[in-house]
Amino acid sequence: MSDGVLVIGSLSLDMVFGVPYNPARGETIKANSFQTFVGGKGNNQALAAAKAGARVAMIGRVGNDQYADLIIATLEEAGADASLVYKDPDVGTGLANIYVDPQGDNSIVIATRSNENLSPQDVDNGIETMRKSKIVVLQLEVPLATVTYAAQVGKREGKLVLLNPAPAPQDGNLPDELLKNVDLFVPNETEATLLTGITVNSRESALRAAAKLQAKGIGTVLITLGEKGVAGLDQNKKEIYSPAFSVGVKDTTAAGDAFVGALAARLSNGDQLSEALRYACAAGALATTKMGAAASLPDKNEIEKLMLSSITV
Ligand code: RIB
Repeated sequence: MSDGVLVIGSLSLDMVFGVPYNPARGETIKANSFQTFVGGKGNNQALAAAKAGARVAMIGRVGNDQYADLIIATLEEAGADASLVYKDPDVGTGLANIYVDPQGDNSIVIATRSNENLSPQDVDNGIETMRKSKIVVLQLEVPLATVTYAAQVGKREGKLVLLNPAPAPQDGNLPDELLKNVDLFVPNETEATLLTGITVNSRESALRAAAKLQAKGIGTVLITLGEKGVAGLDQNKKEIYSPAFSVGVKDTTAAGDAFVGALAARLSNGDQLSEALRYACAAGALATTKMGAAASLPDKNEIEKLMLSSITV
């Protein structure tokens, strides 16, 4: 069993529309399919880490509705500790509308709802759990003040703090008090572009963006580039690269979450960054082969099988 991953973040219910194309402004189109799935970036990352074999706990807030029970039950079924996921009596659970096109690319709109109430006090209430964990995993679907506080506490407690800056703020600004406490920063191309002003679409541009991010006090930067793999700089400013695995893509939703969760799981297990990265790339690739967020997250056996087949792009 790993030394433990604590995820502090969002939990949502995803409403997924398979669309022939993304509608233009003012246009109404018919979906080809509709399904609901358990989601939310924090929840997906906690599930991904648990399915990859880590001991996982989650701090978050769901609402007062039937989605809340489904989300908590899914975490528990995966073996994660959901005792610090609070039910808010006066608000609904977070929701996401997701449009998936025939290429498997998505557009997501979230209504944060219960996630908006996650507070620094909730982080403090989980301090004993944090002390038993090796890694604290954060995203940006809950209030920035809570994420910043969680990173500060994580650092103070000597934990490895991983931030997946998703969704990235439109103005590209994240507070220094947050960034200086981040050991491992994992944006995708879009987020890295917003946060640096550099158009990130290749290994070379990812390295330039990583250097710019490190200048803000962040440790290791890993930028996920989809089928172009993952590129970045480690804490010693040494280049890191891992190629993507070649798979048939159905829906890219939660591929980044699968990557983050699996990465945290393997690092908490004591893997070197390069080994953990390859494992996380396999998990991210597998998540694109099925529809949905939580429903698409691979387990240990599936990940190891893909790694053995060793087909990278
Ligand atoms: O990263 C995928 C997730 O983003 C979805 O599950 C959805 O809930 C949105 O938060």
